[in-house]
Amino acid sequence: MKIRVMKGQAKRFPCEVLLLFSFEVPEPLEGPTQEVDREWEGFLSDLISQGDFRGELFQCRLVHTQKAIPAKRVLLAGLGKREEFDLERWRGVVSKAGQLVREIGLKQFACELKRLKDYPEEELAENFVTGLVLGLYQFHELKTRDREKIKTVDEVILLGETDEEIRLIEEGARRGEWISSAVCMARDLVNGPSNSITPTVLAEKARQIAAEHDLEVQVLDLDEAEAMGMGAFVAVAKGSQEPAKFIVLEYNKGKELDTIALLGKGITFDSGGISIKPSEGMERMKDDMSGAAAVLGAMQAAAQLRIPLHLVGIIPATENLPSGKAYKPGDVLKTLSGQTVEVISTDAEGRLILADALTYSLRYQPKAIIDLATLTGACIIALGDYVIGMMGNDEGLVKRVEEASHKVGEKVWRLPLWEEYFDYLKSDTADFRNVGTRAAGTIIGGMFLSRFVEKTPWVHLDIAGPAFIEKERPYLPKGGTGVGVRLVIQLLRDWGRS
Ligand code: BES
Ligand code: ZN
Ligand code: ZN
Repeated sequence: MKIRVMKGQAKRFPCEVLLLFSFEVPEPLEGPTQEVDREWEGFLSDLISQGDFRGELFQCRLVHTQKAIPAKRVLLAGLGKREEFDLERWRGVVSKAGQLVREIGLKQFACELKRLKDYPEEELAENFVTGLVLGLYQFHELKTRDREKIKTVDEVILLGETDEEIRLIEEGARRGEWISSAVCMARDLVNGPSNSITPTVLAEKARQIAAEHDLEVQVLDLDEAEAMGMGAFVAVAKGSQEPAKFIVLEYNKGKELDTIALLGKGITFDSGGISIKPSEGMERMKDDMSGAAAVLGAMQAAAQLRIPLHLVGIIPATENLPSGKAYKPGDVLKTLSGQTVEVISTDAEGRLILADALTYSLRYQPKAIIDLATLTGACIIALGDYVIGMMGNDEGLVKRVEEASHKVGEKVWRLPLWEEYFDYLKSDTADFRNVGTRAAGTIIGGMFLSRFVEKTPWVHLDIAGPAFIEKERPYLPKGGTGVGVRLVIQLLRDWGRS
């Protein structure tokens, strides 16, 4: 989809569909909608007074203009109650409108952007593009039949009235494109099956991002990881024939900027290993690299946005499979940190590969570490699939993540990491074990990871719930969501501001 920014006014602009917005009645029409209404001798106000359109949130109404204005059709979209309006709703409304345009088979639409409530054009443009691109996302690469039936919107034109407005809209739209294409890339990786999205493919993707956006990349293979002492990562990877990769991406390497480490769990398929999972629903475990996908997306967008930070993206990537070479319950692993872990379940593999990744990240002396992982099914039980489970050791960093979360609409909820929880991880043979009882599964996962960050400010985001959804939401089609990309990007954009 091409996004163009042009000078023009809604009431004068010729196009297939003109998108106009209105708050819920009794709010009066404003901005471009009011101008079109005047030009059209009150047609839109009539529609509203007759009760045919009320401006309720996500309500959409398509009308033909019969040459009353140059646009062939007007799509009126409801913004809901004025006082409840925010950018999350805006992204949703734009997405719903775009989906309707696509549904009726039209290829193009235009929209004039004007300050709404207190939101300036720039922010509206960024979130317009984000909502639209994310809402129109489709994963149909692997379908070979009926491809001609796939509908797409090819072009959207954003109109600004003055030169200054155009400049603001262009800047916002460009940022929206960078961010949303990073999210779509992450979604493609999550939706892609494990026979195509292997650790090798994740490493290639990292190399491609590095080449295109001037990042440094380093990929360790299993022998190198073993030689370094990553006993936990190696143990998980051993059971699979598919070569494992330990991927390190660096942006702004060597510059004197704050260092932030971003870690993503990259299990390209989680069968559970010897502690094998039930077969029902196991296909979903292709999404166990959603954390890795989010890190790749965030690194790419951060580079495009030229965020003034030194970023290190670290992705331990492997499959978790049972085989004659697989690690087993009862095995004791020596992690890169030197601490030993007794394996109780080979299905708690995410924390093992992340343990070594966390230790590895410390060599960069980061100001903060953020890890993203589909770590525990328990997180879905506790919080559902709308919410990221958040744990951390630093109040300031936790607060920053919460603030970013409010802006981008990726919900986080904090769970405690009280020392008492560590009792569940006591082991008779090693320093600790990799799982507790069934109690507090998500927190125990977080407690385990906390043993590998020393004193570094760190936040763990358990994205098991929102990484993959079975039912669509306003700008999240079902399937892989790319959750975490926008949250991390917002956190990084705001880093220097607070
Ligand atoms: N990848 C899973 C977590 C998961 C489960 C994510 C369902 C999304 C949906 C993880 O590796 C795992 O298997 N965790 C175990 C931990 C347990 C053995 C302590 C779990 O959640 O059952
Ligand atoms: Zn597992
Ligand atoms: Zn897993």
